Amino acid sequence: MQADYETLAKTIAALTEGESDEVALMATVVCEVHHSDSRFDWTGFYRVVAPELLKIGPYQGGHGCLQIPFSRGVCGAAARSGEVQLVPDVDAFRGHIACASSTRSELVLPVWNGRRELIGVFDIDSDQQDAFTQDDADHMTAILHAVFNRI
Ligand code: SME
Repeated sequence: MQADYETLAKTIAALTEGESDEVALMATVVCEVHHSDSRFDWTGFYRVVAPELLKIGPYQGGHGCLQIPFSRGVCGAAARSGEVQLVPDVDAFRGHIACASSTRSELVLPVWNGRRELIGVFDIDSDQQDAFTQDDADHMTAILHAVFNRI
């Protein structure tokens, strides 16, 4: 089953209407995104809790590591650069942090609030090689902006 992004965006918009609590918004986005597509084996947020430090937020899937400095991993690269990380083969990504040995590819997006401050990153892992496309990245970017630009 692959995500129907039009439906997913509408569902998330309806579920989060009028909400501005960051954790509630993150938990809702994670739940809906994770269950929308069989490629997504781990879906979660890492929050910016201090300069150069990410800590785990709401997620679905197996346990994730609790904290990631901006200097490490795919998540750190997204936080450090402010750029989407579309990783077709995690074994080829220098410094990848393997929370699960089954992960083969990864999509990590920076998350901004309405003041253009980085509040975290959104991480989706797949056990399938080269699972993610630029179309996935573009749709996820639009969903994250629609939800978090209000806070
Ligand atoms: N793979 C990520 C770490 C988070 S776990 O996958 C949930 C990284 O390299 O930053």
